[in-house]
Amino acid sequence: MIDRMSCGMMPAKPHTVLRDADGNLLHEEMFTRSGFSGAFSYFYHRYPTTAAIDVSVSKRGHAVAQSSFAPEGLAPLKRRLYDSRKVHVGGMPFECRVPLLFNKDLAVYFACPSQTDDVYFANGDGDELWFVEKGSARLESSCGWLAVEAGDYVGIPKSMVHRWHIDPASGPMRMLCFEGHGGVSIPKEFRNPVGQLVMDAPYTHRDFVRPIGPIATLDTEPVGPNELVVKKGGAFTRLRLERCPMDVVGWEGFVYPWAFAIEKYQPKTGLIHLPPTIHGTFAGPGFLVCSFVPRVTDTHPHAIPCPYPHSSVDCDELILYVKGNFTSRRGVGPGAISLHPAGVAHGPHPGAYEGSIGSTRTDEIAVMIDTFAPLLPTTYAVSVEDPGYQDSWRTAPLS
Ligand SMILES: [Fe+2]
Repeated sequence: MIDRMSCGMMPAKPHTVLRDADGNLLHEEMFTRSGFSGAFSYFYHRYPTTAAIDVSVSKRGHAVAQSSFAPEGLAPLKRRLYDSRKVHVGGMPFECRVPLLFNKDLAVYFACPSQTDDVYFANGDGDELWFVEKGSARLESSCGWLAVEAGDYVGIPKSMVHRWHIDPASGPMRMLCFEGHGGVSIPKEFRNPVGQLVMDAPYTHRDFVRPIGPIATLDTEPVGPNELVVKKGGAFTRLRLERCPMDVVGWEGFVYPWAFAIEKYQPKTGLIHLPPTIHGTFAGPGFLVCSFVPRVTDTHPHAIPCPYPHSSVDCDELILYVKGNFTSRRGVGPGAISLHPAGVAHGPHPGAYEGSIGSTRTDEIAVMIDTFAPLLPTTYAVSVEDPGYQDSWRTAPLS
């Protein structure tokens, strides 16, 4: 939902007749959000979208969130560190993602896929916002082909039929996924009244990579699996379709997958340290995703560039460390995921605060999400947790 796109064939007016050269009627699909009041796209299919040979409960799909909460829940309330490098490597994106943390607004997954999806997938539980730490791929969807590279955020709208094509030359991918149950979008303060991105937004319309489509033509039959797996309410349904669903010959609208490279994010620097919200990138009900990218640090001659210790009493904070030397951390490298829960203070590791004085730049790249509802760890998260993280703030020896 960046701006309007249009490609391929469509009638001059919606909901009117469109035929191919042989006189066959094409089939419109309205893809709408918020009932019929939100953003939408029109798709023009060669065949009806409703034709399925059979529908059944799918035996495939990723772990169901509700059954995988860690029994300890939120207690004890402490800083936690998860090692995504221990996450299972291999499989297909639609089913190899592992659940790490959840709340009512959001699910956080990590995935290390090595194989192209052999079915199409549609996530009816929310928009997916991926961050690709490693690897490259092409995302095939009703909107066309989207090129994806390491360092990209990838937005996949709720219920969009798609599949990932992994680039075998890039090896297994490493990807963090936020599933936003109320959607994922550009913060409203980055838009002007007509919907353009404002000039002091951290990105421009040109920074977003769009799908190239349409995929289908009138001359050839669509090529791809005839199977669609749909996730809704944490459960998976398998639809065996009469045809491959990639039969869209034209589409128009605001709802489509997109990619945005984190290194295109334009950071802001102040005289003194600015709050984390200045790194806001994408948002949804109950959360804000922030991007930390290389930048000049604060310019006051006595500035302390490192983040101040803080008690953000209403937000849990999760960070994926991607690249560089993160100014506030010691002994935390790429692939680590920290969770600093609301309720207890957090801040720089011992030595980092005073060590940052006089620095003029930082080369860190990290993805952060602040959530208003507490994040509950799953049993999988506990299995990749570093038990010594809480104690890494101690200044006195362990007794
Ligand atoms: Fe923080």
